[in-house]
Amino acid sequence: MYLGIDLGTSAVKTVLVDGAQRVIASESRPLTTASPLPGHFEQDPAQWIDATFATLDALKATHAGELAAVEGIGLSGQMHGAMLLDASARPLRPCILWNDGRSAAECQVLERRWPALRATSGNKAMPGFTAPKLLWIATHEPEIFAATKLVLLPKAYLRLVLSGEAIEDVSDASGSLWLDAARRDWSDAALAATGLSRDHMPRLVEGCAPATTLRGELARRWGITRQPVIAGGAGDNPAGAVGIGAIRPGTAFVSLGTSGALLAPTSRIAANPDRAVHTFCHAIPDMWIQAGAILSAASCLAWIARLFGATEAELLAPLGLRPQAPSAVSFLPYLAGERTPHDDPAVRGMLDGLSHGTDRGTIVQAVLEGVAFALADCRDALADAGIAMTEADAIGGGSRSRFWLSVLANVLNVPIHRFAGGETGAAFGAARLGRLAVTGEAIAAVCTRPQRIETFEPDAGLVDAYAERLPAWRELYRPRH
Ligand code: XUL
Repeated sequence: MYLGIDLGTSAVKTVLVDGAQRVIASESRPLTTASPLPGHFEQDPAQWIDATFATLDALKATHAGELAAVEGIGLSGQMHGAMLLDASARPLRPCILWNDGRSAAECQVLERRWPALRATSGNKAMPGFTAPKLLWIATHEPEIFAATKLVLLPKAYLRLVLSGEAIEDVSDASGSLWLDAARRDWSDAALAATGLSRDHMPRLVEGCAPATTLRGELARRWGITRQPVIAGGAGDNPAGAVGIGAIRPGTAFVSLGTSGALLAPTSRIAANPDRAVHTFCHAIPDMWIQAGAILSAASCLAWIARLFGATEAELLAPLGLRPQAPSAVSFLPYLAGERTPHDDPAVRGMLDGLSHGTDRGTIVQAVLEGVAFALADCRDALADAGIAMTEADAIGGGSRSRFWLSVLANVLNVPIHRFAGGETGAAFGAARLGRLAVTGEAIAAVCTRPQRIETFEPDAGLVDAYAERLPAWRELYRPRH
Protein backbone atom coordinates (compact mmCIF):
# COMPACT_ATOMS: atom_id res chain seq x y z
CA MET A 1 0.00 0.00 0.00
CA TYR A 2 1.20 3.51 -0.82
CA LEU A 3 0.11 7.00 0.13
CA GLY A 4 0.23 10.02 -2.14
CA ILE A 5 -0.25 13.39 -0.47
CA ASP A 6 -0.71 16.47 -2.66
CA LEU A 7 -0.37 19.75 -0.79
CA GLY A 8 -2.23 21.86 -3.34
CA THR A 9 -3.38 25.48 -3.13
CA SER A 10 -7.11 24.90 -2.69
CA ALA A 11 -6.87 21.60 -0.79
CA VAL A 12 -4.70 18.80 0.57
CA LYS A 13 -5.57 15.58 -1.26
CA THR A 14 -4.43 12.22 0.03
CA VAL A 15 -4.85 8.96 -1.89
CA LEU A 16 -4.31 5.39 -0.74
CA VAL A 17 -3.11 3.21 -3.61
CA ASP A 18 -2.73 -0.57 -3.58
CA GLY A 19 -0.09 -2.79 -5.23
CA ALA A 20 -2.22 -3.07 -8.38
CA GLN A 21 -2.25 0.76 -8.61
CA ARG A 22 -5.93 1.02 -7.71
CA VAL A 23 -6.99 4.08 -5.72
CA ILE A 24 -8.53 2.41 -2.65
CA ALA A 25 -9.59 5.63 -0.95
CA SER A 26 -9.02 9.36 -1.13
CA GLU A 27 -9.61 12.22 1.25
CA SER A 28 -9.38 15.94 0.73
CA ARG A 29 -9.50 18.94 3.06
CA PRO A 30 -9.81 22.54 1.84
CA LEU A 31 -7.23 25.28 2.38
CA THR A 32 -7.75 29.02 2.43
CA THR A 33 -5.49 31.68 0.94
CA ALA A 34 -5.07 35.15 2.42
CA SER A 35 -4.48 38.21 0.27
CA PRO A 36 -3.21 40.82 2.75
CA LEU A 37 -2.60 43.30 -0.12
CA PRO A 38 -3.59 43.23 -3.81
CA GLY A 39 -1.32 40.76 -5.64
CA HIS A 40 -0.02 39.29 -2.37
CA PHE A 41 -1.02 35.65 -1.63
CA GLU A 42 -0.13 33.78 1.53
CA GLN A 43 -1.08 30.63 3.42
CA ASP A 44 -0.71 29.61 7.03
CA PRO A 45 1.46 26.45 7.11
CA ALA A 46 -0.38 25.26 10.24
CA GLN A 47 -3.43 24.80 7.97
CA TRP A 48 -1.44 22.51 5.66
CA ILE A 49 -0.49 20.31 8.59
CA ASP A 50 -3.99 20.24 10.08
CA ALA A 51 -5.49 19.42 6.67
CA THR A 52 -2.95 16.66 5.98
CA PHE A 53 -3.45 15.11 9.39
CA ALA A 54 -7.23 15.33 8.95
CA THR A 55 -7.05 13.40 5.65
CA LEU A 56 -4.97 10.68 7.30
CA ASP A 57 -7.17 10.54 10.41
CA ALA A 58 -10.17 10.14 8.08
CA LEU A 59 -8.46 7.34 6.16
CA LYS A 60 -7.74 5.63 9.45
CA ALA A 61 -11.43 5.85 10.36
CA THR A 62 -12.59 4.31 7.07
CA HIS A 63 -9.66 2.15 5.84
CA ALA A 64 -7.64 1.23 8.93
CA GLY A 65 -6.57 -2.16 7.55
CA GLU A 66 -5.27 -0.78 4.27
CA LEU A 67 -3.61 2.20 5.96
CA ALA A 68 -1.81 -0.14 8.34
CA ALA A 69 -0.08 -1.76 5.37
CA VAL A 70 1.41 1.46 3.92
CA GLU A 71 5.08 1.02 3.02
CA GLY A 72 5.83 4.12 0.98
CA ILE A 73 4.65 7.75 0.97
CA GLY A 74 5.09 10.27 -1.81
CA LEU A 75 4.58 14.00 -1.42
CA SER A 76 3.51 16.43 -4.11
CA GLY A 77 3.10 20.14 -3.57
CA GLN A 78 2.24 23.55 -4.91
CA MET A 79 5.55 24.83 -6.26
CA HIS A 80 7.68 27.96 -5.64
CA GLY A 81 6.32 28.97 -2.18
CA ALA A 82 8.77 30.41 0.38
CA MET A 83 8.67 28.93 3.88
CA LEU A 84 11.17 30.65 6.18
CA LEU A 85 12.16 28.83 9.36
CA ASP A 86 14.12 29.95 12.41
CA ALA A 87 16.91 28.12 14.24
CA SER A 88 14.29 25.90 15.95
CA ALA A 89 12.66 25.09 12.58
CA ARG A 90 9.64 27.23 13.46
CA PRO A 91 7.91 29.21 10.66
CA LEU A 92 8.83 32.90 10.84
CA ARG A 93 5.86 34.13 8.78
CA PRO A 94 3.08 32.80 6.53
CA CYS A 95 4.20 31.16 3.28
CA ILE A 96 4.40 33.49 0.26
CA LEU A 97 2.75 31.53 -2.57
CA TRP A 98 3.54 30.74 -6.23
CA ASN A 99 0.99 33.29 -7.52
CA ASP A 100 2.26 36.16 -5.37
CA GLY A 101 3.40 39.13 -7.47
CA ARG A 102 5.14 41.33 -4.89
CA SER A 103 8.75 40.69 -5.93
CA ALA A 104 8.83 42.11 -9.50
CA ALA A 105 11.49 44.71 -8.66
CA GLU A 106 13.60 42.06 -6.91
CA CYS A 107 13.55 39.93 -10.09
CA GLN A 108 15.38 42.68 -11.92
CA VAL A 109 17.89 43.01 -9.08
CA LEU A 110 18.49 39.26 -9.15
CA GLU A 111 19.06 39.13 -12.91
CA ARG A 112 21.58 42.00 -12.57
CA ARG A 113 23.39 40.44 -9.63
CA TRP A 114 23.62 37.03 -11.23
CA PRO A 115 23.84 37.32 -15.01
CA ALA A 116 24.12 33.53 -15.41
CA LEU A 117 20.62 33.06 -13.91
CA ARG A 118 18.83 32.18 -17.15
CA ALA A 119 21.62 29.94 -18.48
CA THR A 120 21.99 28.07 -15.17
CA SER A 121 18.38 27.75 -13.99
CA GLY A 122 16.78 27.62 -17.46
CA ASN A 123 14.26 30.18 -16.19
CA LYS A 124 13.65 33.90 -16.19
CA ALA A 125 13.46 35.53 -12.76
CA MET A 126 9.70 35.86 -12.21
CA PRO A 127 7.89 36.94 -9.03
CA GLY A 128 6.24 33.57 -8.48
CA PHE A 129 9.60 31.86 -8.05
CA THR A 130 11.20 31.50 -4.63
CA ALA A 131 14.52 33.36 -4.89
CA PRO A 132 13.13 36.88 -5.58
CA LYS A 133 10.77 36.44 -2.62
CA LEU A 134 13.81 36.14 -0.38
CA LEU A 135 15.22 39.40 -1.76
CA TRP A 136 11.83 41.03 -1.03
CA ILE A 137 11.98 39.71 2.56
CA ALA A 138 15.57 41.00 2.94
CA THR A 139 14.38 44.51 1.95
CA HIS A 140 10.93 44.68 3.54
CA GLU A 141 11.23 42.38 6.56
CA PRO A 142 14.97 42.47 7.38
CA GLU A 143 14.50 41.06 10.89
CA ILE A 144 12.80 37.98 9.42
CA PHE A 145 15.52 37.57 6.81
CA ALA A 146 18.18 37.78 9.56
CA ALA A 147 16.40 35.11 11.62
CA THR A 148 15.97 32.76 8.63
CA LYS A 149 18.04 29.60 9.04
CA LEU A 150 16.21 27.31 6.63
CA VAL A 151 14.22 27.99 3.44
CA LEU A 152 11.78 25.29 2.36
CA LEU A 153 9.21 24.82 -0.38
CA PRO A 154 5.72 23.93 0.90
CA LYS A 155 5.92 20.16 0.66
CA ALA A 156 9.46 20.09 2.14
CA TYR A 157 7.97 21.82 5.18
CA LEU A 158 5.28 19.15 5.34
CA ARG A 159 8.00 16.48 5.08
CA LEU A 160 9.91 18.16 7.92
CA VAL A 161 6.83 17.82 10.12
CA LEU A 162 6.22 14.23 9.00
CA SER A 163 9.83 13.06 9.32
CA GLY A 164 11.93 15.60 11.22
CA GLU A 165 14.26 16.04 8.23
CA ALA A 166 14.75 18.93 5.79
CA ILE A 167 14.89 17.34 2.34
CA GLU A 168 13.73 18.52 -1.08
CA ASP A 169 13.43 16.81 -4.44
CA VAL A 170 15.08 18.30 -7.51
CA SER A 171 11.85 18.91 -9.45
CA ASP A 172 10.39 21.24 -6.83
CA ALA A 173 13.84 22.73 -6.18
CA SER A 174 14.09 23.69 -9.86
CA GLY A 175 11.17 26.09 -9.32
CA SER A 176 13.20 28.05 -6.78
CA LEU A 177 15.74 29.58 -9.26
CA TRP A 178 18.51 28.37 -6.93
CA LEU A 179 19.02 25.13 -8.81
CA ASP A 180 21.54 24.41 -11.54
CA ALA A 181 19.00 22.62 -13.71
CA ALA A 182 21.52 20.62 -15.77
CA ARG A 183 23.54 19.43 -12.72
CA ARG A 184 20.40 19.00 -10.59
CA ASP A 185 22.17 20.59 -7.64
CA TRP A 186 21.99 23.92 -5.78
CA SER A 187 23.93 26.71 -7.46
CA ASP A 188 26.19 28.43 -4.93
CA ALA A 189 26.26 31.56 -7.12
CA ALA A 190 22.46 31.70 -7.21
CA LEU A 191 22.23 31.35 -3.44
CA ALA A 192 24.94 33.98 -2.89
CA ALA A 193 22.98 36.42 -5.10
CA THR A 194 20.15 36.28 -2.53
CA GLY A 195 22.43 36.44 0.51
CA LEU A 196 22.05 32.71 1.26
CA SER A 197 24.22 29.59 1.13
CA ARG A 198 23.74 25.82 1.04
CA ASP A 199 23.45 25.92 4.84
CA HIS A 200 20.00 27.50 4.38
CA MET A 201 18.86 24.79 1.99
CA PRO A 202 17.51 21.26 2.50
CA ARG A 203 19.39 18.22 1.21
CA LEU A 204 18.42 17.25 -2.35
CA VAL A 205 17.21 13.89 -3.67
CA GLU A 206 15.62 12.65 -6.90
CA GLY A 207 11.81 12.40 -6.80
CA CYS A 208 11.66 8.60 -6.92
CA ALA A 209 14.52 8.07 -4.44
CA PRO A 210 13.96 7.26 -0.75
CA ALA A 211 14.42 10.46 1.27
CA THR A 212 13.50 9.61 4.86
CA THR A 213 10.89 7.78 6.96
CA LEU A 214 7.66 8.76 8.73
CA ARG A 215 8.17 9.60 12.41
CA GLY A 216 7.43 6.63 14.66
CA GLU A 217 4.76 8.45 16.68
CA LEU A 218 2.91 9.44 13.50
CA ALA A 219 3.08 5.90 12.13
CA ARG A 220 1.50 4.79 15.44
CA ARG A 221 -1.16 7.55 15.29
CA TRP A 222 -2.34 6.23 11.94
CA GLY A 223 -1.83 2.59 12.90
CA ILE A 224 0.82 2.01 10.22
CA THR A 225 2.66 -1.16 11.10
CA ARG A 226 6.01 -0.46 9.49
CA GLN A 227 7.78 2.88 9.44
CA PRO A 228 7.04 3.94 5.85
CA VAL A 229 9.68 5.37 3.54
CA ILE A 230 9.02 8.92 2.32
CA ALA A 231 10.17 9.46 -1.28
CA GLY A 232 11.64 12.66 -2.68
CA GLY A 233 8.27 13.36 -4.30
CA ALA A 234 7.73 16.21 -6.75
CA GLY A 235 6.29 19.61 -7.46
CA ASP A 236 2.61 19.23 -8.38
CA ASN A 237 3.23 19.57 -12.13
CA PRO A 238 6.01 16.91 -12.33
CA ALA A 239 3.97 14.72 -9.95
CA GLY A 240 1.00 15.05 -12.32
CA ALA A 241 3.31 13.92 -15.14
CA VAL A 242 4.29 10.81 -13.17
CA GLY A 243 0.63 10.12 -12.44
CA ILE A 244 -0.26 9.90 -16.13
CA GLY A 245 3.00 8.25 -17.19
CA ALA A 246 4.30 11.35 -19.00
CA ILE A 247 7.91 10.32 -18.54
CA ARG A 248 9.22 10.47 -22.11
CA PRO A 249 9.52 13.12 -24.80
CA GLY A 250 6.32 13.39 -26.85
CA THR A 251 3.96 13.05 -23.89
CA ALA A 252 2.82 16.67 -23.52
CA PHE A 253 -0.10 17.34 -21.22
CA VAL A 254 -2.28 20.17 -20.04
CA SER A 255 -3.08 20.80 -16.39
CA LEU A 256 -6.29 22.65 -15.46
CA GLY A 257 -5.86 23.13 -11.72
CA THR A 258 -6.13 26.36 -9.73
CA SER A 259 -3.30 27.37 -12.06
CA GLY A 260 -2.90 26.01 -15.57
CA ALA A 261 0.05 24.69 -17.54
CA LEU A 262 1.07 23.09 -20.77
CA LEU A 263 3.89 20.70 -19.97
CA ALA A 264 6.29 18.76 -22.15
CA PRO A 265 8.73 16.17 -20.74
CA THR A 266 12.13 16.41 -22.47
CA SER A 267 15.37 14.40 -22.34
CA ARG A 268 17.45 17.60 -22.51
CA ILE A 269 16.89 21.17 -21.44
CA ALA A 270 15.10 23.18 -24.16
CA ALA A 271 14.78 26.48 -22.32
CA ASN A 272 13.09 29.64 -23.59
CA PRO A 273 13.33 32.02 -20.64
CA ASP A 274 12.83 35.10 -22.82
CA ARG A 275 9.22 33.98 -23.39
CA ALA A 276 8.81 32.93 -19.77
CA VAL A 277 8.87 29.19 -20.48
CA HIS A 278 9.62 27.29 -17.27
CA THR A 279 12.40 24.70 -16.94
CA PHE A 280 11.78 22.06 -14.28
CA CYS A 281 13.75 18.91 -13.49
CA HIS A 282 11.40 15.97 -13.89
CA ALA A 283 10.65 13.75 -10.89
CA ILE A 284 12.60 10.94 -12.54
CA PRO A 285 16.35 11.08 -13.27
CA ASP A 286 17.79 12.50 -16.51
CA MET A 287 14.52 14.05 -17.65
CA TRP A 288 13.28 17.64 -17.55
CA ILE A 289 9.94 19.36 -18.13
CA GLN A 290 9.48 22.53 -20.18
CA ALA A 291 6.28 24.29 -19.26
CA GLY A 292 4.17 27.25 -20.13
CA ALA A 293 2.46 28.21 -16.87
CA ILE A 294 -0.58 30.44 -16.43
CA LEU A 295 -1.56 31.70 -13.01
CA SER A 296 -5.36 31.33 -13.22
CA ALA A 297 -7.16 28.40 -14.86
CA ALA A 298 -9.82 26.53 -12.87
CA SER A 299 -9.66 29.47 -10.44
CA CYS A 300 -11.27 31.59 -13.21
CA LEU A 301 -14.24 29.23 -13.27
CA ALA A 302 -14.41 29.33 -9.46
CA TRP A 303 -14.35 33.15 -9.64
CA ILE A 304 -17.21 33.43 -12.12
CA ALA A 305 -19.21 30.84 -10.15
CA ARG A 306 -18.82 33.01 -7.05
CA LEU A 307 -19.96 36.08 -8.99
CA PHE A 308 -23.06 34.34 -10.33
CA GLY A 309 -23.81 32.70 -6.99
CA ALA A 310 -23.97 29.32 -8.70
CA THR A 311 -21.99 26.10 -8.53
CA GLU A 312 -19.51 25.35 -11.30
CA ALA A 313 -21.67 22.41 -12.37
CA GLU A 314 -24.71 24.73 -12.65
CA LEU A 315 -22.73 27.09 -14.86
CA LEU A 316 -21.35 24.35 -17.10
CA ALA A 317 -24.47 22.22 -17.61
CA PRO A 318 -26.34 24.66 -19.95
CA LEU A 319 -23.28 24.92 -22.23
CA GLY A 320 -23.71 21.33 -23.41
CA LEU A 321 -20.88 19.11 -24.56
CA ARG A 322 -19.15 21.27 -27.13
CA PRO A 323 -19.18 24.88 -28.38
CA GLN A 324 -21.18 25.74 -31.50
CA ALA A 325 -19.11 28.90 -32.16
CA PRO A 326 -16.74 31.12 -30.15
CA SER A 327 -18.42 33.28 -27.51
CA ALA A 328 -19.28 36.86 -28.49
CA VAL A 329 -17.40 37.97 -25.37
CA SER A 330 -13.62 37.75 -24.79
CA PHE A 331 -11.98 37.17 -21.43
CA LEU A 332 -8.38 37.74 -20.33
CA PRO A 333 -7.74 35.27 -17.48
CA TYR A 334 -5.05 37.37 -15.79
CA LEU A 335 -6.87 37.57 -12.43
CA ALA A 336 -3.55 37.21 -10.55
CA GLY A 337 -1.22 38.58 -13.25
CA GLU A 338 0.43 36.24 -15.73
CA ARG A 339 3.66 34.31 -16.22
CA THR A 340 3.94 32.64 -19.66
CA PRO A 341 4.40 34.45 -22.00
CA HIS A 342 4.03 37.95 -20.50
CA ASP A 343 5.74 37.73 -17.11
CA ASP A 344 3.48 40.53 -15.94
CA PRO A 345 2.41 40.34 -12.29
CA ALA A 346 0.56 43.66 -12.55
CA VAL A 347 -1.78 42.86 -15.46
CA ARG A 348 -5.38 42.00 -14.53
CA GLY A 349 -8.28 40.22 -16.22
CA MET A 350 -10.86 41.66 -18.60
CA LEU A 351 -14.26 40.90 -20.09
CA ASP A 352 -14.60 42.52 -23.50
CA GLY A 353 -17.58 42.76 -25.85
CA LEU A 354 -20.43 42.83 -23.30
CA SER A 355 -23.85 43.99 -24.55
CA HIS A 356 -27.45 44.15 -23.30
CA GLY A 357 -27.91 40.76 -24.92
CA THR A 358 -25.02 39.08 -23.09
CA ASP A 359 -26.29 36.22 -20.97
CA ARG A 360 -24.62 34.11 -18.29
CA GLY A 361 -23.71 31.27 -20.65
CA THR A 362 -21.93 33.64 -23.04
CA ILE A 363 -19.76 34.92 -20.19
CA VAL A 364 -19.02 31.46 -18.79
CA GLN A 365 -18.01 30.24 -22.25
CA ALA A 366 -15.78 33.32 -22.68
CA VAL A 367 -14.06 32.53 -19.37
CA LEU A 368 -13.27 28.96 -20.45
CA GLU A 369 -12.09 30.18 -23.87
CA GLY A 370 -9.87 32.86 -22.32
CA VAL A 371 -8.00 30.19 -20.37
CA ALA A 372 -7.68 28.11 -23.55
CA PHE A 373 -6.30 31.12 -25.48
CA ALA A 374 -3.75 31.70 -22.71
CA LEU A 375 -2.69 28.05 -23.09
CA ALA A 376 -2.34 28.68 -26.86
CA ASP A 377 0.17 31.39 -25.93
CA CYS A 378 2.01 28.74 -23.88
CA ARG A 379 1.95 26.37 -26.85
CA ASP A 380 3.56 29.01 -29.05
CA ALA A 381 6.22 29.82 -26.45
CA LEU A 382 7.07 26.10 -26.23
CA ALA A 383 7.13 25.85 -30.04
CA ASP A 384 9.73 28.66 -30.06
CA ALA A 385 11.91 26.36 -27.95
CA GLY A 386 11.49 23.61 -30.55
CA ILE A 387 8.79 21.68 -28.70
CA ALA A 388 5.94 20.69 -30.98
CA MET A 389 2.76 19.14 -29.63
CA THR A 390 0.59 16.77 -31.65
CA GLU A 391 -1.81 15.73 -28.87
CA ALA A 392 -2.19 16.33 -25.15
CA ASP A 393 -3.60 14.58 -22.11
CA ALA A 394 -5.65 16.68 -19.68
CA ILE A 395 -5.41 16.53 -15.88
CA GLY A 396 -6.61 18.64 -12.95
CA GLY A 397 -10.09 19.54 -11.71
CA GLY A 398 -10.95 21.48 -14.89
CA SER A 399 -10.51 18.32 -16.99
CA ARG A 400 -13.87 17.10 -15.65
CA SER A 401 -15.58 19.55 -18.03
CA ARG A 402 -16.08 18.04 -21.45
CA PHE A 403 -17.08 21.41 -22.84
CA TRP A 404 -13.77 22.92 -21.69
CA LEU A 405 -11.71 20.07 -23.17
CA SER A 406 -13.58 20.45 -26.45
CA VAL A 407 -12.76 24.19 -26.47
CA LEU A 408 -9.10 23.33 -25.79
CA ALA A 409 -8.95 20.77 -28.59
CA ASN A 410 -10.25 23.41 -31.02
CA VAL A 411 -8.13 26.29 -29.75
CA LEU A 412 -4.92 24.22 -29.62
CA ASN A 413 -5.89 22.25 -32.74
CA VAL A 414 -4.76 18.92 -31.26
CA PRO A 415 -6.69 15.96 -29.85
CA ILE A 416 -7.13 16.23 -26.07
CA HIS A 417 -7.44 13.01 -24.05
CA ARG A 418 -9.19 12.55 -20.74
CA PHE A 419 -8.60 9.91 -18.06
CA ALA A 420 -10.86 8.50 -15.41
CA GLY A 421 -9.86 10.07 -12.09
CA GLY A 422 -7.60 12.61 -13.80
CA GLU A 423 -8.37 15.11 -11.09
CA THR A 424 -6.34 13.15 -8.57
CA GLY A 425 -3.28 13.19 -10.86
CA ALA A 426 -0.65 14.83 -8.64
CA ALA A 427 -1.52 12.80 -5.52
CA PHE A 428 -1.57 9.61 -7.58
CA GLY A 429 1.81 10.50 -9.12
CA ALA A 430 3.17 11.10 -5.63
CA ALA A 431 1.97 7.64 -4.55
CA ARG A 432 3.84 6.17 -7.53
CA LEU A 433 7.00 7.95 -6.39
CA GLY A 434 6.44 6.55 -2.89
CA ARG A 435 6.25 3.08 -4.39
CA LEU A 436 9.39 3.52 -6.52
CA ALA A 437 11.31 4.66 -3.44
CA VAL A 438 10.39 1.43 -1.65
CA THR A 439 10.60 -1.15 -4.41
CA GLY A 440 13.27 0.28 -6.72
CA GLU A 441 11.27 -1.15 -9.65
CA ALA A 442 11.87 0.00 -13.22
CA ILE A 443 10.30 3.45 -13.56
CA ALA A 444 8.56 2.61 -16.85
CA ALA A 445 6.96 -0.47 -15.28
CA VAL A 446 5.26 1.64 -12.60
CA CYS A 447 4.66 4.91 -14.47
CA THR A 448 2.38 3.44 -17.12
CA ARG A 449 -0.20 5.45 -19.04
CA PRO A 450 -3.66 5.13 -17.48
CA GLN A 451 -6.53 4.26 -19.75
CA ARG A 452 -7.88 7.20 -21.74
CA ILE A 453 -11.64 7.29 -21.46
CA GLU A 454 -12.36 9.94 -24.05
CA THR A 455 -10.67 11.93 -26.81
CA PHE A 456 -11.80 15.36 -27.95
CA GLU A 457 -10.92 15.85 -31.61
CA PRO A 458 -10.57 19.30 -33.19
CA ASP A 459 -13.38 20.21 -35.55
CA ALA A 460 -12.12 21.99 -38.71
CA GLY A 461 -14.83 24.69 -38.64
CA LEU A 462 -14.30 25.54 -34.97
CA VAL A 463 -10.49 25.42 -35.30
CA ASP A 464 -10.71 28.12 -37.99
CA ALA A 465 -13.20 30.18 -35.99
CA TYR A 466 -10.96 30.15 -32.90
CA ALA A 467 -7.80 30.81 -34.94
CA GLU A 468 -9.51 33.92 -36.33
CA ARG A 469 -10.35 35.12 -32.81
CA LEU A 470 -6.90 34.58 -31.32
CA PRO A 471 -5.17 37.71 -32.75
CA ALA A 472 -8.00 39.97 -31.52
CA TRP A 473 -7.85 38.28 -28.10
CA ARG A 474 -4.09 38.91 -27.97
CA GLU A 475 -4.65 42.57 -28.82
CA LEU A 476 -6.61 43.00 -25.58
CA TYR A 477 -3.43 42.56 -23.52
CA ARG A 478 -1.83 45.83 -22.47
CA PRO A 479 1.32 45.49 -20.36
CA ARG A 480 1.04 47.31 -17.03
CA HIS A 481 4.78 47.55 -16.39
C1 XUL B 1 3.85 26.20 -11.62
C2 XUL B 1 3.01 26.91 -10.64
C3 XUL B 1 1.75 26.29 -10.15
C4 XUL B 1 1.92 25.80 -8.74
C5 XUL B 1 0.59 25.56 -8.03
O1 XUL B 1 4.93 26.94 -12.07
O2 XUL B 1 3.32 27.97 -10.18
O3 XUL B 1 1.31 25.28 -11.01
O4 XUL B 1 2.72 24.67 -8.73
O5 XUL B 1 -0.10 24.52 -8.45
